[in-house]
Amino acid sequence: MTPNVPGDLWKKLTSTVGLVSVRHEDTANVMAAEWSYFVNKAPLYAAVVLGPRAASRALLAAAGEFSLTLCSEDQAAVADFAGSFSVADIDKTGSELIRFGEPEATGTPWVRGGVVALECVLRETVRFPAHTLYAGEVVAAHLPEEALRPLVKHGAMHTLGTPVRRTEVVASARWLPAGTLRIAATGPAGDGDGRWRVSLLTADGGTVSLGAHPPSPHGDFLRDLPLPAGLPVERLGGCRVRVERDGAEPGYAAVTGLGARSVARTAPVTHGVPR
Ligand SMILES: Cc1cc2nc3c(=O)[nH]c(=O)nc-3n(C[C@H](O)[C@H](O)[C@H](O)COP(=O)(O)O)c2cc1C
Repeated sequence: MTPNVPGDLWKKLTSTVGLVSVRHEDTANVMAAEWSYFVNKAPLYAAVVLGPRAASRALLAAAGEFSLTLCSEDQAAVADFAGSFSVADIDKTGSELIRFGEPEATGTPWVRGGVVALECVLRETVRFPAHTLYAGEVVAAHLPEEALRPLVKHGAMHTLGTPVRRTEVVASARWLPAGTLRIAATGPAGDGDGRWRVSLLTADGGTVSLGAHPPSPHGDFLRDLPLPAGLPVERLGGCRVRVERDGAEPGYAAVTGLGARSVARTAPVTHGVPR
């Protein structure tokens, strides 16, 4: 173990608990794997990371395929059981709580009752010092009739909490060579028209309006704004911007990039939407 790196840091990660099913004899073995992720969108790849204690490693490598069920919040007991014993000790699938679905595209049964179950064909194997990552292409997916809530691992197993309520604008600003100011901001839309109001706050305590602007199609803000004509160069040093939106706390940012003098030299300005 690396000195000064606590051995249980991996518990800081948050993920949906997975149940990995791999063909074994005339049925399948099931183990719990909280290190279960999607690692490619198109084609969709799912990956599981298995440690040296998991007998499933050898079974998976031999089978060349696996199924992955992302657990629902009702499956904590099954996940705990499948993660507490090895197929080397007992056939875990004897439990009446493990119910298999018929595979469609592979020969590997999948565990029912999850948020989704994925049939995967092994495409990549990445060996790390102790663990091995198995990435498989998803060739079939099984969704429940009604959407289920996930079983979340963060140290202990949890149910998902309520969605975060965003309240703040977060902004960033930089000078561009053409004498314009590029502003990026995100923040909640609130009840108003969603427009973004931008102000330049000068080091001498003044406020210069840079207008109110509609959001991008994504709802956020990325725009190059011209500075008002006749703004004296000495007022541009040490500027900040304030970005406001109805219903949200304003966001503030120091203006980075070119020095104020080179900005003034390169004015006049153009106006564009870079996205
Ligand atoms: C909630 C939970 C999550 C787990 N996640 C992983 C994991 O991501 N990778 C891993 O190698 N083992 C993980 N384990 C431990 C394995 O599931 C355990 O070693 C199991 O006995 C392996 O079964 P097998 O030998 O039949 O393959 C987890 C255990 C629990 C209870």
